Amino acid sequence: MKHQSFEQWLETIGDIDLPIFDQEIQTLLNELERQSEIYWNVPAEVGEFFYKLIVKLRPKRLMEVGTSNGYSAIRMGLALKQNPAIHVDGDAGVGAQESAGKLFTIESHGGRFELAAANIRRAGLTDFVVQIKGHAPEIFHSDENLKVGNFDLLFFDGIKKQHVDFLEQGIGLLKDGGVLIADNVTSHWKDMEAFVRRVEEMGVFEGRTLEIGDGVYVGIKKGGEASL
Ligand SMILES: C[S@@+](CC[C@H](N)C(=O)[O-])C[C@H]1O[C@@H](n2cnc3c(N)ncnc32)[C@H](O)[C@@H]1O
Repeated sequence: MKHQSFEQWLETIGDIDLPIFDQEIQTLLNELERQSEIYWNVPAEVGEFFYKLIVKLRPKRLMEVGTSNGYSAIRMGLALKQNPAIHVDGDAGVGAQESAGKLFTIESHGGRFELAAANIRRAGLTDFVVQIKGHAPEIFHSDENLKVGNFDLLFFDGIKKQHVDFLEQGIGLLKDGGVLIADNVTSHWKDMEAFVRRVEEMGVFEGRTLEIGDGVYVGIKKGGEASL
């Protein structure tokens, strides 16, 4: 974080406007929000925070642990879809377009994995959201899409007691300047305290827990300029 403080950086995210989604997308979001207690989804305000963050940062590689029925993945995918595609020169040919970004989202439960697949298809986001069936953190090291690392954003929303493992085994996958996010810090403090302490001990993140939803930790991995 070379040019601005974390708080200034957060303010620039707050300035991003929220979109008006078309009717089909809005209907899907409303439906999923009505089921959020069954599928443990982040609340809408956290979904909106993701939208603003992703529009601001234009991340190319994102990873989520804990897809559930796909609500947070859809919130992130909608932001990726609206980001302009990046024009690339080189092997892909001058003027060729790459997708603006891709979210890799991991889910271990078969039924919720399938439900998320249907919801992500319904949202028209299959080019932006790649589902991975498996168990984190083991899958970080075995899945071809994950083990290459180079992620701009990691979102941990799996079993809270495992967040320290996700952090220790996932930190190497996050680029310098990348963003680490974890849900339920306030609501599950008993289980999340160890995660927050470990983040602080590592000394490589600048961030804090935001008072949105159930308490969302957001930290930037020091050393890069990508996000600032
Ligand atoms: C809180 S819900 C995720 C909610 C989702 N992120 C959202 O806001 O829409 C947690 C999900 O993570 C899955 N999960 C928990 N621990 C996991 C792990 N270690 N690896 C993969 N999935 C996991 C659970 O099966 C559950 O569906």
